[in-house]
Amino acid sequence: MELIDAIYGRRAVRDYTPQEVSRATIEELIDAAVHAPTALDEQPWVFAVIQGKGLLQDYSDRAKAHFLATFNPGNDPHAMRRDQLVDARYNLFYNAGTLLVIFAEPNRHFAPVDCCLAAENLMLAAHAKGLATCPVGFAQSWFDLPEIKTEIRVAQELTAVIPLIVGYPAKTPGAVPRKKPEVIFSA
Ligand SMILES: Cc1cc2nc3c(=O)[nH]c(=O)nc-3n(C[C@H](O)[C@H](O)[C@H](O)COP(=O)(O)O)c2cc1C
Repeated sequence: MELIDAIYGRRAVRDYTPQEVSRATIEELIDAAVHAPTALDEQPWVFAVIQGKGLLQDYSDRAKAHFLATFNPGNDPHAMRRDQLVDARYNLFYNAGTLLVIFAEPNRHFAPVDCCLAAENLMLAAHAKGLATCPVGFAQSWFDLPEIKTEIRVAQELTAVIPLIVGYPAKTPGAVPRKKPEVIFSA
């Protein structure tokens, strides 16, 4: 696939087939991810891989319960998504079987930027291989909780940047129209 086709063809997919993603494929995707550029060549990331639909359903249920229990109307990033949190059918990970969470190392000024560049590489590589992905920002703060980092064997000093589900697409949505960006050419 041409790179330009991957850029324009990638979609956030929210419906996956039961086919599992092999460890070899995940390793290939992570290899593509780490070819992203990084500030000062720091490569300041750690990839947590969580697999199993049952486990991800459990994480979704627990993350939703946590957000509802700590819900603070008026000052909560999840406030506008409260309807989804109370809907038992809503799975944060859309029944995908694989989740990668990219964590940033501490004391690296551009680490979150570097991790996001890696995430885009990974999503484009996945698309080129016939896989699909969706970033799940909704779950980011949950994976940053100390007890969840312990559970998934991630060091406490790391910061969760972006969870990404990966799987084989059952249904691919159409492209979301882009707003015309404000572009300012100076002189
Ligand atoms: C940082 C980030 C967080 C996102 N979080 C979620 C999420 O929690 N749940 C979800 O369904 N989609 C999430 N998305 C996917 C966006 O909704 C999607 O990328 C956007 O609607 C554009 O669609 P496209 O990716 O198919 O072009 C997220 C995307 C980004 C970049």
